[in-house]
Amino acid sequence: MMKIIRTIATVLLLGSFSLKAQVKTPVYLDDTKSIHERVDDALSRMTVEEKVRMIHAQSKFSSAGVPRLGIPELWTSDGPHGVRPELLWDEWSQAGWSNDSCFAFPALTCLSASWNKDMALLYGKSIGEEARYRNKNVLLGPGVNIYRTPLNGRNFEYMGEDPYLSSKMVVPYIRGVQSNGVATCVKHYALNNQEVDRDKVNVNVDDRALYEIYLPAFKAAVQEGGTLAIMGSYNLYKNEHCCTNQYLLNDILRKEWGFEGVVISDWGGAHNTREAIVKGLDLEFGTWTEGMTWGKTNSYDQYYLAKPYLDMIKSGEIGTTELDAKVRRILRLSFLTSMNKNKPYGSMASDEHIQAGRKIAEDGIVLLQNTNNVLPVDLGKAKRIAVIGENAVKMMTVGGGSSSLKAKYEVSPLDGLKKRAGAQTEIVYARGYVGDIGGSADGVSTGQDLKDTRSAEELIAEACTLAKNADYVIFFGGLNKSEHQDSEGSDRLGLGLPYNQDKLISELAKVNKNLVVVNISGNAVAMPWVNEVPAIVQGWYLGSEAGNALAAVLVGDVNPSGKLPFTFPVKLDDNGGIALGEYPGSNGQVTYKEGIFVGYRWAEKQKIKPLFSFGHGLSYTTFSYGEVSADKKEMTEADKITFSVSIKNTGTREGSEVVQLYVSDLKSTLPRPVKELKGFEKISLKAGEEKTVSITLDKAALSYFDPDKHAWVAEPGDFEALVGSSSSDIRGKAGFTLK
Ligand code: BGC
Repeated sequence: MMKIIRTIATVLLLGSFSLKAQVKTPVYLDDTKSIHERVDDALSRMTVEEKVRMIHAQSKFSSAGVPRLGIPELWTSDGPHGVRPELLWDEWSQAGWSNDSCFAFPALTCLSASWNKDMALLYGKSIGEEARYRNKNVLLGPGVNIYRTPLNGRNFEYMGEDPYLSSKMVVPYIRGVQSNGVATCVKHYALNNQEVDRDKVNVNVDDRALYEIYLPAFKAAVQEGGTLAIMGSYNLYKNEHCCTNQYLLNDILRKEWGFEGVVISDWGGAHNTREAIVKGLDLEFGTWTEGMTWGKTNSYDQYYLAKPYLDMIKSGEIGTTELDAKVRRILRLSFLTSMNKNKPYGSMASDEHIQAGRKIAEDGIVLLQNTNNVLPVDLGKAKRIAVIGENAVKMMTVGGGSSSLKAKYEVSPLDGLKKRAGAQTEIVYARGYVGDIGGSADGVSTGQDLKDTRSAEELIAEACTLAKNADYVIFFGGLNKSEHQDSEGSDRLGLGLPYNQDKLISELAKVNKNLVVVNISGNAVAMPWVNEVPAIVQGWYLGSEAGNALAAVLVGDVNPSGKLPFTFPVKLDDNGGIALGEYPGSNGQVTYKEGIFVGYRWAEKQKIKPLFSFGHGLSYTTFSYGEVSADKKEMTEADKITFSVSIKNTGTREGSEVVQLYVSDLKSTLPRPVKELKGFEKISLKAGEEKTVSITLDKAALSYFDPDKHAWVAEPGDFEALVGSSSSDIRGKAGFTLK
């Protein structure tokens, strides 16, 4: 008996050895091998059909893997302020899951307004964890299209008007997200600066503006951030759609910048099979095809990079070189994301994310004006605060297009203030105006009933009665996420505040001198009442923690330290593109005649005084700047030069200051802006504390793009480093010479 048992055991043992010997891990699954070897191996095992299946969508937000080889599907999700709720397989409506409510982070305009690279890293890390937890492999964001005019409906999703600021903020965001084994897909590459005619407008822009203004943030995303994916935009450049664009994708992105990642089309951004094959696109999403209605089941096989491509290969019309290159890039992305065995598990709506979202929101809120130190609200003295305005109660995480969210919760400004004020201060509320009463997107509803049939006069009368009898009046207005406001798919119709808000604000100012206007928007707005209102705050779209963050700043728990990432012009015509009649273009063409003179570069060239300048933002304390010193007077192209300035908190409370360094080229062959941002640092100082800030520049900070040479050129000569608290508040300077 024992002998039989021993024999069986030996057979089993040997069997297990031989089984092990047989299932040797294939190279493509062996993560001790290099990505390159793994990609080669996977590719060699795939059929042409499997390859083609991998390069286009299989549902609204996913693309196929290779089931036979165990290579998983890729799942993408918007982006960029939170992870979008699950949609139905082939419809835009939400799937109705109950486990997909996210934490909503502040909009990217707010992140950018923090001028804080640590916040960008925290943001990326946190949203990446949410994406990871939800099993997403590619986050569709961040967006870095430059703020060309204040009318673009999607400005709230981007990082402002300055290429240097956007570049510095996008890099840590990407690193944070990708540390989770989730790819970022930086969008919308490139020149997608308006929503009007976004899928058919051809952008004419000179090479200088392209390289100096519109591309730097994308380049930084690729070369410094290491983004694994990039999204082509809807519009055209040199009369080619940007998702299939020889110049932008093959020549610049891949050849000049060495991008090895995946180019993903914006949803519906591909238009032609041959172009999609040869002009740089890797992965096609969101196409609806001729003869099949948008969203009809099984249309995926008819995508430009699906059956039509396979047919061309089979008929011998085209080879498989491009196909292999596309699949290689997608495999690389998969190995680093979906098949990355070392990635963390992620987390969702965690306490850490709540803290992060709140911190970023508080760091980005901008105090625009504070006459007579009306702010912070003194809760010890205030018996009653009148809160006025629709945006005090309106949920803003729903709406605005593809960035719309299903947030686990959203604290409104009114609720945030009530909670913070506690029982000793009475908070009374009046609507004041009726704006947008809608509150649903793709089947996600706010559940708010904002219908109100009262006339404008009745609403104003009610608001003024409350305002008259209050110690403070805090008005929350601005824009919202509906059509022609801050929303994808349409642009704003003007710079002014909608819904009769200007009149309401002026009336409020007449009855109470302690008036605070909080503008909730992702865009600049006109403020004809600026001299009637003592305190103005730029509040952005702040996500789940909106009300708590705003309350903290308004009552002074947090000292505001945000700075504007774009110029607030007095009127629309103060913007270059608009003044030159080059928005939104005509006959399918828009020409960026203002060239490199975008935002403050235009205002300074034309000597136009903005309502609020780029980089502006006040604090409840004050800072003094010492002399600016440089470690050398002359530098060569290979050198670096460091400027130092000592900053002192001269007020009575702790606060943070963003020290900004602008470079001015005193004489140049080509026209240059009066000055350009080339360095910044945010520092925190206790009352009375003093710190030295040092900012180092190299040749790149002095260079312009020479279109004739097609190269960056640093021209020898005299320069100035201007150091200040905003682009219009320069506190000191130091001259130097480039040899
Ligand atoms: C938007 C993209 C978005 C995509 C998927 C497009 O309409 O332009 O930003 O990522 O839809 O929702």
